[in-house]
Amino acid sequence: MSETFTGEIHAMIKGRRIVLGITGGIAAYKAAELTRAFIKEGASVRVIMTKNASEFITPLTLQTLSGHLVYRDMFSPLKDFEMDHISLADFAEILVIAPATANVIGKIASGIADDLLTTTVMTTKAPLLICPAMNQSMYENPIVKENIMSLASRGYHFIDPGYGELACSTEGYGRLPDIEDIVDEVESMLTVKDLSGEKILVTAGPTREPFDPVRYISNYSSGKMGYALAVASRRRGARTIMVSGPTSLPVPKGIIFIPVKSALEMRDAVMDHLAESTVIIKAAAVADYRPSTRSDSKIKKEKGPLTISLERNPDIIDEIGRKKGKRVLVGFAVETENLIQRAREKMLAKKMDLIVANDVTQDGAGFGYDTNIIKILTPAGEVEELPLMSKYEVAHRILDRIRDIIRSR
Ligand code: C5P
Repeated sequence: MSETFTGEIHAMIKGRRIVLGITGGIAAYKAAELTRAFIKEGASVRVIMTKNASEFITPLTLQTLSGHLVYRDMFSPLKDFEMDHISLADFAEILVIAPATANVIGKIASGIADDLLTTTVMTTKAPLLICPAMNQSMYENPIVKENIMSLASRGYHFIDPGYGELACSTEGYGRLPDIEDIVDEVESMLTVKDLSGEKILVTAGPTREPFDPVRYISNYSSGKMGYALAVASRRRGARTIMVSGPTSLPVPKGIIFIPVKSALEMRDAVMDHLAESTVIIKAAAVADYRPSTRSDSKIKKEKGPLTISLERNPDIIDEIGRKKGKRVLVGFAVETENLIQRAREKMLAKKMDLIVANDVTQDGAGFGYDTNIIKILTPAGEVEELPLMSKYEVAHRILDRIRDIIRSR
């Protein structure tokens, strides 16, 4: 089971039509990997190469990887009587230029359309993602900077180049961003921003309840469900805050991340951000009990048994339920028996607007898995049963319900 999110959290690219423009920089060879990544995600890819690009990588490579002839020439269309720039512009649900040279950025910024790629850019109504890759001095050239700013202000998307060794034997900014970052950006751009304006607070992961400096009581929560919710929420346009207990997952980009350890810390962090939130999703597996005392030094081994007395942790969701006002509150119920009945009782007692019921006895569901099998319950008595799906897809289904509640108000 993978402990990373990259590669697991794309649901919007599947079945989508991507036009990939490759221009003539040394990073052109990486476009082969990018094509593979898009295909692996289930996209349909058409490649346009500029004349200079084919000096760096052969069209045959891209043809083989994309499964389609590569488009290169304005005046020799691949299909008789077809205007390639029009058909490609119509085909594209998103157009990605990777790598994008200073030259192509300058041409687009100046309205020049003198080859198949720039003409397609000029024609298409699809969103454009430009991934610059060039020598750092070129990237820092004020003309390039100005062109990027001018295109960005018109709504073109850019992904900043990465830092590292450059082909010209120097080190700096100018490398093509990581393939995973480009795929992530495409996923974000293809995600409908139906939660923009919302401020979503997600809790994730387990809590740790220490009883001496080196030991704690905790649970098996991996944090994957909460992290998937935070990523999906951000991609749907919500300002996203995640309060997370300790996990081994990478911190998602573009969110406000508040790491905590214990239930008491989680409670304080959540309450600090309650006022500014419009939606609260409590995916964390909060420990219900904590040791009543915490020894300042490591508890030594003795002959007899060790007794640790526990006291109740605050019920964070119960407190939110009492203070929430018009906010949408979503909780999780992890049960091993009487799932629906218990989840329903919890939802009503704690004034939740939705509860996600999770039967952890099923294979592929619950703690640690990348997949989940859940039921979404509403106070009106609806029960939506979802089949086994990735936690990222589950996150979107939960956010769909939240969006519907917000719209219905
Ligand atoms: O009662 P139970 O722990 O099963 O409730 C689960 C829901 O309550 C989850 O949404 C969890 O995040 C939340 N919870 C909480 N504070 C606790 C225990 C659980 O907010 N102390």
